[in-house]
Amino acid sequence: MTSTVELLKIKFNQALVAAFGEDFATTDPMVVEATNPKFGDYQCNVAMSLTKPLKSNPRAIATQIINHLSLDEICEPPEIAGPGFINLRLKIDYLQTQLQKMLGDERLNIPQVNPPQRMIVDFSSPNIAKEMHVGHLRSTIIGDCIARILEFQGHDVLRLNHVGDWGTQFGMLITYLKEVYPDALTTANALDLGDLVEFYRQAKVRFDQDETFKETARQEVVKLQAGAEDSRRAWQLLCEQSRREFQLIYDDLDIQLTERGESFYNQFLPQIVEELEKIGLLVEDQGAKCVFLEGFTNKEGEPLPLIVQKTDGGYNYATTDLAALRHRIETEKATRIIYVTDAGQSNHFMQVWQVAKRAGWIPENVELVHVPFGVVKGEDGKKLKTRSGETVRLRELLDEAVNYAKTDLETRLKAEERTETEAFIDQVAKVVGLSAVKYADLSQNRTSDYIFSFDKMLSLQGNTAPYLLYAYVRIQGISRKGNIDWQQLGTDIKIVLEAEVECVLAKHLLQLQDVLEEVAHDLFPNRLCQYLFELSQKFNQFYEQCSVVKAEEPQRTSRLALCDLTARTLKLGLSLLGIPVVERM
Ligand code: ARG
Repeated sequence: MTSTVELLKIKFNQALVAAFGEDFATTDPMVVEATNPKFGDYQCNVAMSLTKPLKSNPRAIATQIINHLSLDEICEPPEIAGPGFINLRLKIDYLQTQLQKMLGDERLNIPQVNPPQRMIVDFSSPNIAKEMHVGHLRSTIIGDCIARILEFQGHDVLRLNHVGDWGTQFGMLITYLKEVYPDALTTANALDLGDLVEFYRQAKVRFDQDETFKETARQEVVKLQAGAEDSRRAWQLLCEQSRREFQLIYDDLDIQLTERGESFYNQFLPQIVEELEKIGLLVEDQGAKCVFLEGFTNKEGEPLPLIVQKTDGGYNYATTDLAALRHRIETEKATRIIYVTDAGQSNHFMQVWQVAKRAGWIPENVELVHVPFGVVKGEDGKKLKTRSGETVRLRELLDEAVNYAKTDLETRLKAEERTETEAFIDQVAKVVGLSAVKYADLSQNRTSDYIFSFDKMLSLQGNTAPYLLYAYVRIQGISRKGNIDWQQLGTDIKIVLEAEVECVLAKHLLQLQDVLEEVAHDLFPNRLCQYLFELSQKFNQFYEQCSVVKAEEPQRTSRLALCDLTARTLKLGLSLLGIPVVERM
């Protein structure tokens, strides 16, 4: 189905052509949601922008557009307001028909894109032997949501986990473990991630203090990169250890990822340097091979280098990203590549892309997007720390969220004098706790820092996961109490909209498609959260003002259908945020 805005845009373009000629076939008709519902549902602002080319005044232009407009099936007669806005109000009949179409369609009448695009979302990407921290949690949650929305639209999405599984940290770690715990390098499961992270920390201290250690560690990296068998084995064991720990978190959060870490691209690195050399972009600077960047300068105003090969022959994070980029374009055939990392890496990506573009590796039809996000802060406004001042381990953070949710739930059950089984309580606490963490993150504008507060994210009031889950549960309650089987309502229901609140809800229900298109384009999941939050509010207003189960026919069935559509929209929308619903809570 073409969404309402799309349909209006098409109609306006036709009117522009009919009124002013073919030249206006591609003019953006500037149809947007009305700024104030008093004036209608949508407005067209194009008349004001055409005064110059048409040498006329906007009200006259608006009148001409309206004279050539055929919106009879969609809108009431358009009205001109102010300098030349064209206000549009949707017809009740149109709303009713559209809702009926939604009812009979599993995808709520949202079509798949045609043709689909091959896309890559690079997200999560923690580092082996290092703790997965809240920054990686943000990347995981936001990246997963973006991938889900693009997949729902029908795109062919590859979800890549670009884990940091290569480089100097392994030389350091292997050298240190050889000294203190050699078993860890030959036996599976000798360590858990907590130990590994602690060993890594100690190894780093040695590395920074002890020159001999440093040298041995360097040689160890060279050995590993040359493929020495014992080094490879040790490296594999360390990676598996981390991987297992990461997987526990992905399982909890229901995250699908294909791991393709930095090591995968190792084989392509020499070629990257060679080609840059051939193209003539490479410069040797104090033994390092680099490309001088355009638009990035040091304090003295001199161009900054992007080092692709260090003096000791080693490669950098950026070299790997250059190789990854080529692989994604040439082998994976991706035409949209999305990187989800903290805002601190913006420059890194700008620099890598610049070099790749200058090298001619990025075809015209390929879009590269960085999706940056801000820092997670504690309630004191500082970087999130545990009570004892250490960096927060992800596992503990998630466990704490579930515990909080459990305590909340138990308090509520007591107050409502309900008894539920332990299994029910655990299940609901887990969904609510983890969903609250996800939603708190997704509902913020991702570019700003966000304050992590269990109390806020678990509140049943406001723009939170529990509020939305509860709206869904409430609707399921209607069907339970009224003994209503949504499926049995059938699909040839006649929707009749009477009350103002019903129309408001109906219009909102019809906007999901536009919202998803917006998020797929701009990659701001908070827009979808806002939509779902407003949907719940509008539903609650409707439910307060209109009787449903006790209404007379045909209102009764029609209103039940509105309840069902709201529940299905909530369920779909939440699933795209990576949040499952519960039937009771
Ligand atoms: N491992 C990196 C980090 O923890 C993130 C990798 C992001 N993806 C990429 N292609 N560079 O900061």
